[in-house]
Amino acid sequence: MPQNASKRVFIKTYGCQMNVYDSDRMADALAPHGYMPTQEIGEADLVLLNTCHIREKASEKVFSELGRLKELQGEKRAAGGDMMIGVAGCVAQAEGEEIARRAPVVDLVFGPQAYHRLPDMLARAQSQRHMHPALKKAVIDTDFPEEDKFAHLPAARKEATIARGLTAFLTVQEGCDKFCSFCVVPYTRGAEVSRPVSQVLDEARLLVDAGVKEITLLGQNVNAYHGTDGAGRDIGLGELCYLLAEIPGLERLRYTTSHPRDMDDGLIAAHRDLPLLMPYLHLPVQSGSDRILKAMNRKHTAAEYLSLIERIKAARPDMALSGDFIVGFPGETDQDFEDTLTIIRDTGYASAYSFKYSTRPGTPGANLGDQVPEEIKTERLYRLQELVNQQTTAFHASMVGKTLPVLVERVGRMPGQVGGRSPYLQAVHLEGATDLIGAIRQVEIIGTSTNSLVGRLVRASAA
Ligand code: SAH
Ligand code: SF4
Ligand code: F3S
Repeated sequence: MPQNASKRVFIKTYGCQMNVYDSDRMADALAPHGYMPTQEIGEADLVLLNTCHIREKASEKVFSELGRLKELQGEKRAAGGDMMIGVAGCVAQAEGEEIARRAPVVDLVFGPQAYHRLPDMLARAQSQRHMHPALKKAVIDTDFPEEDKFAHLPAARKEATIARGLTAFLTVQEGCDKFCSFCVVPYTRGAEVSRPVSQVLDEARLLVDAGVKEITLLGQNVNAYHGTDGAGRDIGLGELCYLLAEIPGLERLRYTTSHPRDMDDGLIAAHRDLPLLMPYLHLPVQSGSDRILKAMNRKHTAAEYLSLIERIKAARPDMALSGDFIVGFPGETDQDFEDTLTIIRDTGYASAYSFKYSTRPGTPGANLGDQVPEEIKTERLYRLQELVNQQTTAFHASMVGKTLPVLVERVGRMPGQVGGRSPYLQAVHLEGATDLIGAIRQVEIIGTSTNSLVGRLVRASAA
């Protein structure tokens, strides 16, 4: 049992899946220092906000949350208790000093590349707790260190992993060298770094050993993964998938997010060869207009994207596609937007995420004139989402009558129901007892509801 095991940490996570992964790693790093996770903010001795900087709205949330935390801290102190507050993640990386200045309530500010130093930072912040407020300074760490963060983070804790369930994220690559002109990620996450193959395989084995059946490999540009194996060979994401496929007990593998320019033949071949590699691919294109794609610095055309999709579907005909779209990038005309609707029609998405362009300080896009008025962005977003919703509905409907392998993960929304995921990442609900949870079951799809499928267990005798 660690010392001071009575302390509690509450971590609030914003943003992408990598932040979800990072929050778990932070919890794992703090556990040996006596901090156990809690879901109850009221009982927390330490609150960490793991933040996202991707759009203006995401960033603003941090400051309003800090306002609320200040009140909560005041109440705790009035009752004789206390609470420390830390800001992690991409807002911390982008605005370190600024956060400490605007919100003196914050004890710690640290970016994604400093998580392995969290216990040390915490000790330093704690030693300041009893200082006069005028002398107290937040501990700030937004350096991009030379050392390998992952080698210094403690391994995932087995008991924590068991508590987290049957599916898990595993970061294999972090950072981005693409510099799309709208995007903050290359600045908040730093340059592309891939974890060594042995580290990835070890972590995957540990997860599977703790009962995980499905792993989603994460990276800002996960398909730019280039790890080194024991012999010093360069291993791409495709080859990594073949190696992971050999782990007994690992039943499903996914990866996200991919860049069209890094979808190489090796990865496409892995989709052809590996049944555990799920037929669902998040492959953002952002826009269907070549002019806008160029201004975004995406470095490919709409036609190249479509021919890539063709090659992928030739390898895995049932591949379901998902994408991201930005409407209202500076200079986007009606025709450019129509081109985006066209590429959506031509591709046919199972799902897609879409956003109004948000100017981000420090990105090349921030210096462009010709901003699109807000009401035009709103209208375009609405039209785009209508089209995507139709495609999603049609995709779900096309499953009715099929029997799909469903990884049953949890109790359902209704009593007597359980829920899981199809290979295409659709939520599936079915009648059944909780002993179905934990395995892949054959489920006949008998209907759809707004965002999910309704299924019926296929009995072994009938299968
Ligand atoms: N690495 C991923 C994207 C990470 S950000 C990739 O390259 O696909 C997730 C999505 O947020 C992006 O795909 C983009 O659609 C959106 N996004 C990023 N910056 C944005 C901005 N400034 N305004 C609006 N949407 C943005
Ligand atoms: Fe951002 Fe582009 Fe890198 Fe994706 S590829 S993280 S959108 S800069
Ligand atoms: Fe947001 Fe950082 Fe992820 S900006 S989307 S939390 S990489």
